[in-house]
Amino acid sequence: MKPLKFITLCLLLTSASPSVLAESGASIEEGKKLFYLERVTSKGEKMSCTVCHTDNPKQSGKSRANKVIEPLAPVANPKRFTDQAKIEKWFKRNCQDVLERQCTSAEKESFVMYMKSIK
Ligand code: HEC
Repeated sequence: MKPLKFITLCLLLTSASPSVLAESGASIEEGKKLFYLERVTSKGEKMSCTVCHTDNPKQSGKSRANKVIEPLAPVANPKRFTDQAKIEKWFKRNCQDVLERQCTSAEKESFVMYMKSIK
């Protein structure tokens, strides 16, 4: 590669990196979509995050075993999104329950962004 070409490429890469990061796909809007997404599972069950967490993240929900689930929005429940192990554990379980796959990092990031954006 000619030196000039190489320098141009380096310049392009450095100037491009911030937008590449922003294009990781994570956004409040995507997080909201994930929360309200409804899908029918392979077992024919209609599933959504709202089934257990209700359609209002500031409200308490109910688990399958009828246990109270504290609100997901940190504005209503400051303990949310403070314990990384807990966050990962429940994303793993709940994404599997609703989407029948694991959530991507962008989806998880978006979801947390959305919850934190709720006033
Ligand atoms: C079958 C019921 C159920 C469904 C459906 C469900 N959740 Fe949950 N979720 C729970 C329970 C139970 C907990 C743990 C109890 C608690 O934290 O209060 C929890 C906790 C969480 C947490 C932990 C947050 C923290 O920091 O404490 C996250 C994140 C989460 N859920 C995300 C989701 C997402 C995303 C979806 C939809 C893809 C979803 N949940 C659907 C039952 C459910």
